[in-house]
Amino acid sequence: MQKIATVSEMRQVSRELRAKGGRIALVPTMGALHAGHRALIEAAKKSGDTVVVSIFVNALQLPSAEAVAYPRTPEADLALCTEANADVVFMPAVEEIYPRGYSTYVMEEAYSKPLCGVSRPTQFRGVTTIIVKLINIVSPGRLFIGQKDVQQAALLRKMMADLHLDVAVDMVPTAREADGLAFGVRNRELTTSQRTEAVVVQQALAKAKEMVGSGVRSTDRVVAEVTHIIGQRRRLRVIYISIVDGTTMEAEREIIPGKSLLMIAVWVDEVRLIDNLPL
Ligand code: PAF
Repeated sequence: MQKIATVSEMRQVSRELRAKGGRIALVPTMGALHAGHRALIEAAKKSGDTVVVSIFVNALQLPSAEAVAYPRTPEADLALCTEANADVVFMPAVEEIYPRGYSTYVMEEAYSKPLCGVSRPTQFRGVTTIIVKLINIVSPGRLFIGQKDVQQAALLRKMMADLHLDVAVDMVPTAREADGLAFGVRNRELTTSQRTEAVVVQQALAKAKEMVGSGVRSTDRVVAEVTHIIGQRRRLRVIYISIVDGTTMEAEREIIPGKSLLMIAVWVDEVRLIDNLPL
């Protein structure tokens, strides 16, 4: 596995690969890698492309306190990438990506607005900006994003179409821990009792799926039930519970099985968690 720290070397390696007819799959990450990322790398490997994993804590998409506190575990990250058979790890320093005086941004202005876009209005501008930069540096033909970040995947697809970027976005099913909690960087911050309550999010999603399976189509009914289940937990605070169109992220009045998504964000005390389920 090759480890690359500079934009110029990454470009050079990518150019050489493509000159030989190779194709590149990019797994963009912010490090602190876990089994969810591993699933992304494994899915990318299956595509047969050369797999580049980028590891960069993109402060542009995080509130400043979170960017400072974001876990940085480079040794463990490299070990996981080696184990998962990644071909290249691109780990640039901040100055490589955002040199002093940096002032250009990319924004998607529809799919990025609801859900996480409401409470974290600058997050997705940070995501679209870094992804365009990574595409220009790595030149991948496809990008692998987890279903857990489905809003991110949706607006990246929209951006690719709007900007004529010839990059496919492959979505990989959410990897879950044994108790059903979706793998996430912030899971490690949960205490045992917080975790017991956090898993209720997955139970609420499962209940929603069951309701739709038994014929319920009213978003109000499902959202009310999910809100009720989560509301019974002392440590959980709802940020949003919404049923949206899986492509546009627009709120829906009626559930369309196979198309609608139930989206949830909660606080577990001070820890923010997101999850979703196709209905
Ligand atoms: O999903 C993430 O970890 C980040 O948003 C991404 C795609 C790596 C961009 O910084």
